[in-house]
Amino acid sequence: MIRPRLGWSLPRVFAHRCGGALAPENTLAGLRIAARLGVRAVEFDVMLSADGTPWLIHDESLERTTDGVGAVCKTSDADLRVLDAGARRHPAFAGEPLPSFESAAQLCRQLGLMANVEIKPAAGHEAATGAVVAGCARELWAGTELPLLSSFSETALLAAREAAPEMPLGSLFERPPADWLARVNRVGALSLHCDATLLDDEVLRAARANGIPVLCYTVNQTQAATRLFRRGVMAVFSDRIDCLGET
Ligand code: G3P
Ligand code: MG
Repeated sequence: MIRPRLGWSLPRVFAHRCGGALAPENTLAGLRIAARLGVRAVEFDVMLSADGTPWLIHDESLERTTDGVGAVCKTSDADLRVLDAGARRHPAFAGEPLPSFESAAQLCRQLGLMANVEIKPAAGHEAATGAVVAGCARELWAGTELPLLSSFSETALLAAREAAPEMPLGSLFERPPADWLARVNRVGALSLHCDATLLDDEVLRAARANGIPVLCYTVNQTQAATRLFRRGVMAVFSDRIDCLGET
């Protein structure tokens, strides 16, 4: 089985959605804040526009995090490019653009941030999103350590694997299903990502026995992170990078 490895060692803490709670989610401002706090790695969500271009955004619709309306997958690049992705979080962030995947990758490289790129397909666009994100990631991180690509969508992961076989993958679940190991192996993933509150010790034991690192979201309290690390969790995604930092 092809199971590409990471060219970097997993840090303990990933800033969730770029900068956690300190910045508008999935923005370049978040990446800058994470780097300024000394966080070594970030997680962000990537979805395709109507033009098939990858952009950083979590929801399928624009309303919650931007001043746009409608579905991301039905909005053109030209319309996404002019959106404000900061003011909904706080007026101090007004004017913060919706970042393209390309701009986020460039800034990660410039700031020395390792990236976990969550492939977040709109319904019905799973394979295309996996393939495009993996293909772009290959180009954007050429000549340097590759990012870790993860997804809740097995279709997206398989398409990513097909498009760029060298890319390290992570299988993402809420609660790991009974056949999680078979699923991880089917896509050739190197890591298992899941909800911290839905992880049981049996899964951790099997992951350890198979050499699969477990990463948990979303962990916002230092004590909870410490407990997870003691149980054998390798890394956590956090909104509170001001508290957790490099726990
Ligand atoms: O990748 C971990 C985490 O980001 C998954 O949940 O909804 O915040 O993308 P969500
Ligand atoms: Mg995410």
